[in-house]
Formats: sequence, structure tokens, C-alpha cells
Amino acid sequence: MSEPRKSIHGQWSSRWAFILAATGSAVGLGNIWKFPYITGENGGGAFVLVYLVCIAIVGIPIMMAEIMLGRRGRQNPINTMGALAREAGQSQLWRLLGWSGVIAGFLILSYYSVIAGWALAYVFRAASGVFIGGTAEGVGKLFSDLTGDPERLLAWHTIFMIMTMIVVARGVRGGLEKAVRFLMPALFVLLLILVGYAMTTDAFAQGMNFLFKPDFSKISGNSILIAMGHAFFTLSLGMGAIMIYGSYVPRDTSIAKTTFLIAGADTLVALLAGMAIFPIVFANGLEPGAGPGLIFKTLPLAFGYMKGGIVIGVLFFILLVFAAWSSSISLIEPAVTWLVENHGMTRMRACAWSGIVTWLMGLGTIFSFNYWSEVKLWGKTFFDLLDYLTANIMLPLGGLFIALFSAWAMSRVASADELNIRNEWGYALWRFLVRFVTPLAVIIVFLNAIGVMK
Ligand code: TRP
Repeated sequence: MSEPRKSIHGQWSSRWAFILAATGSAVGLGNIWKFPYITGENGGGAFVLVYLVCIAIVGIPIMMAEIMLGRRGRQNPINTMGALAREAGQSQLWRLLGWSGVIAGFLILSYYSVIAGWALAYVFRAASGVFIGGTAEGVGKLFSDLTGDPERLLAWHTIFMIMTMIVVARGVRGGLEKAVRFLMPALFVLLLILVGYAMTTDAFAQGMNFLFKPDFSKISGNSILIAMGHAFFTLSLGMGAIMIYGSYVPRDTSIAKTTFLIAGADTLVALLAGMAIFPIVFANGLEPGAGPGLIFKTLPLAFGYMKGGIVIGVLFFILLVFAAWSSSISLIEPAVTWLVENHGMTRMRACAWSGIVTWLMGLGTIFSFNYWSEVKLWGKTFFDLLDYLTANIMLPLGGLFIALFSAWAMSRVASADELNIRNEWGYALWRFLVRFVTPLAVIIVFLNAIGVMK
């Protein structure tokens, strides 16, 4: 099978089109909503440091591996793994890796869409002016009013799912890709403005200390697992999303350089979000560990006091919705291409089916903030469990097998040819990382979290 496989989806028009799409996938709620709140829950600096180390030694090598596998396989993750396993003379069981990705994508999108719905709701709240002169208590109540109302959550979740499925139905390379080109820089500028506001509060130093001064007594084996899980989540790794996007990458694109750009932009956005949020947390006597509502309980306070707060607030939440939108499409793309390529569905039908299934599953997340808020398993609500299972277990496991496949199952010749890193040392470093460091890191973090290694 030496002839390059053709993708039914064509190719990105250029290297930049791919970078934009992949950055659009990576930068999303994970950076602005999830990173600050899990950092708050896990004690700050030490957690951030572990997360950064995971991005460097696990995230970046796996992203290169995923793009490489995608470009060589050129189909949905299930068929790609099947084809590459055949090429390498390995078992078809590797297709399971693709399967787990398709399932993880469904599961993640089902709650991702509910949270994106909160951001949509906040566009209108910001516009109404309710944040002006708000207190921490008042803003907190606005948030609990929203999450306590399943019908409103359902309405916003439905709208967001429809938005996502429309873009996916039209093919990922349509309008949203073009929009991402200027929306991402705009989001970046707004974050800078918010960091500027945070500097004017008297808790800026305290916020920075919390984020960047590691106190290792505050983290446990479980926090380390959460930090690693988040490195996968935030870079969209471990489930085939980047593999699918990689399948449209032109042959002459440097996978390594592209990966550095994407991971760099993604990390920067997360750190800026943290720098904007924690000073506000401390300036208002709020809890850093306030949980999933953290940004919705803090940023409105900034919008309520800064000049032009209404306009900035509306713009911020609109951009957050766009960031979530360009991520959500990549969560469902593997499932849709699988239905099209393996089950002969039209793209339209495939979208309708996967959209409906995901939408229904979203009900579980909606209810875990109200009707089922007291229903807990291992101290976790349905939403917490779903998030834990996907981000901290399925994605790292997916990543582990992606590393094992690209460094052990696939031949050195094949990966060197596909990655085409000109610098020999660069290739050797990548191979060393995916062969040994990444798999060991994932295994050790897992064992450590379940308490085997005390
Ligand atoms: N990376 C996105 C974020 O941080 C979420 C996301 C999109 C994702 N596609 C993914 C996470 C695939 C895991 C796998 O918001």
C-alpha cells in the first residue's frame, strides 16, 4: 500500500488553513472555562506547572503523532487505524482506538454543548446591563438561576447543537474557518483587555502568585491526572479529532512547526484567561475552587465595573461562543465521517443522526445541575463523571495507544517519511518521547492516581 490514500474530503487549501482549523479546535471552552476552574480546584501554581510539563512532554509529541497518522491514513480514525495497522502488518484490533475516539467525541460534545449554551445565555445577559455595579453575591445568583432552570439550559443547548450541526453538515472547510481567522485574534485582544482590568484590582499580585507560585503540598495523584487529562483535552488530542484534521494536510507541510504554533497559541490563551480571572476572584473574596461556574461568577464583575463594560462583555461572550463552536465541530467530525465513509450515509443524514444522539445525551448534563444535583456516584454528579471519564481516562488512554502505535507498531521508515523532520536530532527526540516518555508518563500518572504508587 505505497500509493497515498485519497481523502474523500480533499485537502486544506494551505498550511494556514490547517493551522487555523486545528487552533480553532484546540482553543475553546477548555482554555477559558475549564482551565481556570480546575486550576482553582487543584490549588494553583503546582497544578499549572504539571499541566505545562504535560503539554511539553506528552501533548506536543502526541499531537505530532496524531497529525502524522491522519495524514498517512486519510480517512476517519477507525479506517485510518485499520489501514495503517494493515500497512504495518499489525492486528485490526487497532481499529478500536478509532472507535474509542468516536465515542469520546460524542460524550464530550454532549456536555460541551451545554456549557457553550451558558456562554450563549451570557451574551444576552451582558447586553441587558444586569452586570453593571453588580456584587459577587448578585452575580453568583444570576448564575445559579440559570443552571437551576432546566428548560432554559435545554433551549440554549438545543441552539448550540443546531449551530454545530449546520456547520458540520456543510463541511468543515466552509465559513467558520474563514471566521476563525479574525475571531481568534479578537478573542486574544479581549483577553488582554481583561488582564489589563485585572491589573487595576488590588489583588493582581495575589492572583499571579496563585497561578505561578507552585506549592506542591496542594496537589495529589488525582490532581496530576487531571492536569494530564487537561493537556489532552485542551489540545483536542486522544480521540482522532486532530487525526481527522491531519488527514487533510498537504504533504509539504511541516508537522513539527505547525504543532508548536498550535500548542503555543493554545497555552497562551489559557494562561491569559487565568491571569484575568484569579485577581478578580481574590479582589472580591470569592472561592478559587468555585467549580464550573467560576468564569461566570467572576468576569461579569469586571464587566460591571470597567468602562465600556457592556460592549466588552457582549463581545467577550460572543467570541467565547465562536471559540466553542470551532471546537465542537471537531468533536463530532470523526463520527460523521465514519457514518459517511463506512455506512454510506449522506453527510446530511449522518449529521442529523449524530446530532440527535448527542443532543439527547446532553440532557444528563443539564439535569445534573438541577433535578439530579444530589444524585452522586463516588461524590460526582453525572456531569462530573462524564467529564472525568472522558478527559482523564479515555483521552489519555487514546493518547497512550497513539504513542504505542506510532513508535512501536509503525515502522521507523514510515514515521520518518511522513513526519519529514529535516533535523535528524529533532526526529530522534520525537521518537524517544513517543516511544518511552509519553507512554510511561501516562501509565505512571494513572497508577499514581489510583493510589498504587504511594
Ligand atoms: N480542545 C477544545 C477545548 O479546549 C475541546 C475539544 C475540541 C476537544 N475537540 C476535541 C477535546 C477533541 C478533546 C478531544 O475547548
